[in-house]
Amino acid sequence: MNFATITKILFVGFLSLLLPACDGPSHGRDANPFHLPPEGFVGNKATGKALYSQNCLVCHGVGAQGSNQGPPLLDNIYNPRHHADLAFHLAVKNGVRAHHWKFGDMQPMPGISPETVGHIVAYVRDIQRKAGIE
Ligand code: HEC
Repeated sequence: MNFATITKILFVGFLSLLLPACDGPSHGRDANPFHLPPEGFVGNKATGKALYSQNCLVCHGVGAQGSNQGPPLLDNIYNPRHHADLAFHLAVKNGVRAHHWKFGDMQPMPGISPETVGHIVAYVRDIQRKAGIE
């Protein structure tokens, strides 16, 4: 092993010590507390449908009709006046304490970006409108 390789290993090791420190909720303020996409972002419902299927369908069901693990997002309580888009961003970021249903809590989903949620919202709003939920 030459000097450059050893330096590289030490450097990578040092970086991995630093990373968790920047990640914790206790470290500084949260730059995006509402987990919102950047200004001007426009969600795409087709992209959202695919992302919904990967991330939300297991509980909220095919076509957001619900499953035995989570409620239908096509229920009228999730209309945009009662649950604004922000509710979706916050649900993913912070999770949801069971309050409307008996499925238990929704856990936070830290791997899901604000943009991903934005696309999913575009999809859910589209199928809500088609179901007369506005
Ligand atoms: C492991 C199951 C599960 C997964 C996966 C899941 N949810 Fe949920 N979600 C729930 C449950 C259960 C509730 C209902 C809590 C209650 O109100 O009783 C809920 C509630 C919600 C609500 C209502 C929030 C509120 O303010 O009342 C939204 C919006 C939501 N989920 C969006 C999503 C989105 C978007 C995804 C995918 C990125 C997702 N969920 C993935 C289980 C899940």
